[in-house]
Parts: sequence; C-alpha cells; structure tokens
Amino acid sequence: RQNARESLYIVLNYAKNFYQQQLHQSEEGHAVGLSYFKERGFSNEILKKFELGYSLDNWDAFSKEALKKGYSAEVLEKAGLLIHKEGGKTAGYDRFRGRVIFPIHNVAGKVIAFGARILKTDKNQPKYLNSPETEVYHKSDILYGIYQAKNAIRQQEHCYLVEGYTDVVSLHQAGIENVVASSGTSLTTEQIRLIGRFTPNITILYDGDVAGIKAALRGLDLVLEEGLNVSVVLFPDGDDPDSYVRKVGAEAFKEHLRKAAKDFITFKTEILLQDAGNDPFRLAAVIGEVVNSIIKIPDAIKRQVFFHRTSEMMKVDEQMLITEGNKLLRKQQ
Ligand code: UTP
Ligand code: MN
Ligand code: MN
Ligand code: MN
Ligand code: MN
Repeated sequence: RQNARESLYIVLNYAKNFYQQQLHQSEEGHAVGLSYFKERGFSNEILKKFELGYSLDNWDAFSKEALKKGYSAEVLEKAGLLIHKEGGKTAGYDRFRGRVIFPIHNVAGKVIAFGARILKTDKNQPKYLNSPETEVYHKSDILYGIYQAKNAIRQQEHCYLVEGYTDVVSLHQAGIENVVASSGTSLTTEQIRLIGRFTPNITILYDGDVAGIKAALRGLDLVLEEGLNVSVVLFPDGDDPDSYVRKVGAEAFKEHLRKAAKDFITFKTEILLQDAGNDPFRLAAVIGEVVNSIIKIPDAIKRQVFFHRTSEMMKVDEQMLITEGNKLLRKQQ
C-alpha cells in the first residue's frame, strides 16, 4: 500500500515536470499557455513557484510519453492522468488536454493532483477540470497552496482563505503569502484542522456575490466549532481577490483587508438583519440563528463577548440570548 502511494507520487511528479516543460519549452505551450498566464499578469517567478504548466491540445501527448518512459497504463489511470477506454485500441486518453495546469501539493510539497483551466470560455466544458479522488488525493482533506503558504501562515499567525487557484497565485505575487484556497467547495472539518495546525486565526476572502456568501454562512459554523477565530472580508460585487488585487494594486488591497475585515459573528448578524428587515418573525429566526452560531464557540469568554455584542446589534436582551443559548446547548448534550 505504501508502495502503491509512492508510485503515484512519482508519476504525478513526472507529469508536473512534463506539463511545466510543455509550458516553457513547446511552441504550443508558449503561444497558448504562456501567453494566457502573461495576460493574467503572472510573472515567470510566480509560474515557477507554483510549478504551473500546460497540457497540449492532443489526445495522448502526455500518456504516450509516460508509457514510453515505462510508467504503466494502470498507474497512470490510478493517478487520475489517463482515462481508460474499455475495449479501445490504445491504453486510453489524457485527462488534461489543451488546458493550463495548477499542480496541487500536499503539506510536505508532493504533487497529489492537478486543477486544469480551459483557456477560452466554452459552455460545453467545465472551466476547471480537476483530478478525481485517488489514493493520494482526497479533495476534502487538502487546501490548495498550503505547501507554499505554511511558513508565512505560521510567521504571521494568520491565514487567508480564498475560493480559487488564481486567487492564491495572484495574492502571492502581490506579496500576500499566507493564503490557501478551498477550491470552490464548502469547507470541511479536515480542512479547518489543517489550517489550525498552523494558526487559530483565519480570514475568509469571498468572491463578491451575495448568493454565494449566504450559502457559505452556515458552513462557517464548522470553523467556530474548531475553536478558530474567524473574520470575513467582502469584495465589490463581481470581483474576487485576484481581479481586485490586479485592479487596485497590492497596497490598496492590503488596506482593504485591514479596513473591511469583520469578525464572522458580527458579519453574519449584519447580513441576516439586513435580510429580515422589520418582519418580526424573520427577526426571531435571525436571533435563533445567531445564538446557534455563538454556542458553537468552545471558549466561554468569547461566547460571552458575542452574546453582548449581538444583543446590542439585534436590540434584544442579552440575558435572553444567554438563556436561549444554554437551552440549545443542553438539548445538544
Ligand atoms: P471561480 O469560478 O471563482 O474561478 O471558482 P476562479 O478561481 O476565479 O478562476 P478564474 O479567475 O475564472 O480563472 C473558484 C474555484 O472553484 C473551483 C476551482 O478550484 C476554482 O479556482 N472550480 C470552479 C472548479 O473546480 N471547477 C469549475 O468548473 C469552476
Ligand atoms: Mn465564484
Ligand atoms: Mn477569478
Ligand atoms: Mn473566482
Ligand atoms: Mn454584557
């Protein structure tokens, strides 16, 4: 089993090198991949740091080469690189074709998977194709960029969490290195604990669309449960951290992070209150939701601070919130 995993790491590393070579040394890689990255403003240095690459627009450019080098079709398939065709004449075809490649590293720096972005929007194809779950890649356990970010997270005692691969890369280029991405899915307890190994302080940088934010609010209770201190920063509608930092520059971006950061409970209370307006039934529901979040915080002193703060925001009696919270806590035990 150990050996099986080891052989996946080896072939994934080979693939990473292959895609990098295609980007920097092939004609198509230059004309298509490299010019794409340049248009996005990525420097050579940052391309190298994240080991970004390019997969040729060809059915089997990668696997043909890998098979020639002696990697078996079986190991290529197990690594998620080859799609096997039952009864086909060939071993199969490459999963990633005609896309720019973002290698995904584990904490130790080994490549475990890839995210691959299409170059032009095409409604018949997903924007990003990702490796499937494999023996070494469990999507819900890993965060994109953790290997490149971990030292900065420890040093700054703080971690920024973004949605996308390009947000991580762009922020590094802007000098913000304590950043990881959830890769578009909702956070899991494993991912939160991964951050918690390096710092208890996390700030979530959301893409600026309200629907997404509301959907994510409930998921964040998980972060509270793990005892982490969570803040949130919003961007203007339509922007994500990557587009915003390119628009305003690194200094203004950092200033925005300082000024717009709100602790999660305050942020959530504000958003829900705006939504509820003056409707007493909806207000009652908001109170219930906020109390439900506060009781997820393991630390009693922090809970007390938030009962006090939110009672003022919602204009209700603090003692009533505490009583409700205690009731809910007892029910859960
Ligand atoms: P976004 O749609 O915000 O993409 O998805 P992005 O990162 O800003 O990418 P650009 O700027 O358009 O190139 C956020 C993340 O969700 C995952 C990826 O990890 C992406 O970075 N995602 C998105 C997918 O896995 N598949 C998709 O088709 C779309
Ligand atoms: Mn989005
Ligand atoms: Mn983007
Ligand atoms: Mn985005
Ligand atoms: Mn008080």
